[in-house]
Amino acid sequence: MKTLILGSGGREHAFAWKIAQSEKSEKLYIAPGNAGTELVGENIDIDINNFEAIGDFIIRNKINMLVVGPEIPLVNGVSDYFLNNSKFENLKIIGPNKKGAMLEGSKEFAKEFMLKNNIPTAKFISVTKNNLDEGIKFLESVKSPYVLKADGLAAGKGVLILDNKQEAIDELNQMINGKFGEASQKVVIEEFLSGIELSVFVLSDGENYKILPTAKDYKRIGENDTGLNTGGMGAVSPVWFANEDFMKKVEDRIIVPTMEGLKNDSIVYKGFIFIGLMNVNGEPFVIEYNVRMGDPETEAVIPLIKSDLIDLLCGVADGNLNEKNIQISDDFCTTIMLVSGGYPEAYEKNKIISGLDKTNDCIVFHAGTKNDGNNIITNGGRVISITAFGKNIEEALDKCYKNAEIINFEGKNYRKDIGNDLKS
Ligand code: AMP
Ligand code: GLY
Repeated sequence: MKTLILGSGGREHAFAWKIAQSEKSEKLYIAPGNAGTELVGENIDIDINNFEAIGDFIIRNKINMLVVGPEIPLVNGVSDYFLNNSKFENLKIIGPNKKGAMLEGSKEFAKEFMLKNNIPTAKFISVTKNNLDEGIKFLESVKSPYVLKADGLAAGKGVLILDNKQEAIDELNQMINGKFGEASQKVVIEEFLSGIELSVFVLSDGENYKILPTAKDYKRIGENDTGLNTGGMGAVSPVWFANEDFMKKVEDRIIVPTMEGLKNDSIVYKGFIFIGLMNVNGEPFVIEYNVRMGDPETEAVIPLIKSDLIDLLCGVADGNLNEKNIQISDDFCTTIMLVSGGYPEAYEKNKIISGLDKTNDCIVFHAGTKNDGNNIITNGGRVISITAFGKNIEEALDKCYKNAEIINFEGKNYRKDIGNDLKS
């Protein structure tokens, strides 16, 4: 199998690391990749939103499988581009088509989808400048805090949670008037759900599905969940409170109706479905769908999969996932993210990273790194994701944190409390 992965973060390094272990892997390319993906495959310098250039590369290099990491190319229709062109009829594509990707690309579409399919989620209303008064009425009918979401993709910044009603009304006005550009011309206002968050990942071939290990990520920059939101500062998998009873509710009330709903909408969904959940007193509610794997959740979930990833992904593309066996390790897996000083606000790049060859008993996934010919240097806000296994969360985290002291770069920052709330 000749595979091309699109993306350049820790998630893509984790995919590449796992695919490279497969006996079926003949050649692995990552576009554009990072200094870590280069260790297990070949990086190629192609813009992930330039479908024509990706297509040329696929033809020239006889690529059999395209794995799409991030959401933007999916929302822009990368899968449709290849599915609708007979030159690529044998290409296996991992990632939903444009309509399927609307589950992430439009919060309104996702909420309407859940409503239509009786999937438990927070009450909501969708507001544009034409029904602003209804939006304000909705805010007056629910209790604080108030949840406002830009309908479209806003690089993880489009969700506001506000305690004060007047502030919420002011923000609603600003959003509709372009605070997040086109993405917030429509705003979904939701009832606030109080509980513990976790994520469930499903691999779908359009008909059949496999549930991957659950995970919890830590989004805020500061300890005890304080400060600004980031892409994710660490993750733990699996989440102990997602026990058999809870997961049965998730499967019956959320996963099965999601699969059915997609089919009813004639969406042949081939790829990962990432379901962000709130556990409200033991009952699961969907907070959001993403149409890809999470980052850094992937760095804690993929290492727990013992089965061959190429084989599973072939099942996804070929529609015979039901014939595949998925084996999951009994261990816990945790990952912590080393980030650049200042992130998620302004930060400097090009800092030399040391100690990468001195780590032990962990897997180092690169996120924002590049090789400048002499050194591996920082090239993003999230720099390195350190993953380790353990018989329990404490053991896994202990290994992550020991190695976090070994890898260094100027300005290095990381949260010291990842998984504290999940320790036994
Ligand atoms: P989203 O992008 O929709 O996942 O929202 C970002 C974050 O906001 C989520 O991970 C939750 O922490 C929080 N959030 C979103 N919607 C709600 C809600 N209805 N109730 C409580 N928290 C929410
Ligand atoms: N870690 C959250 C995400 O990937 O969306």
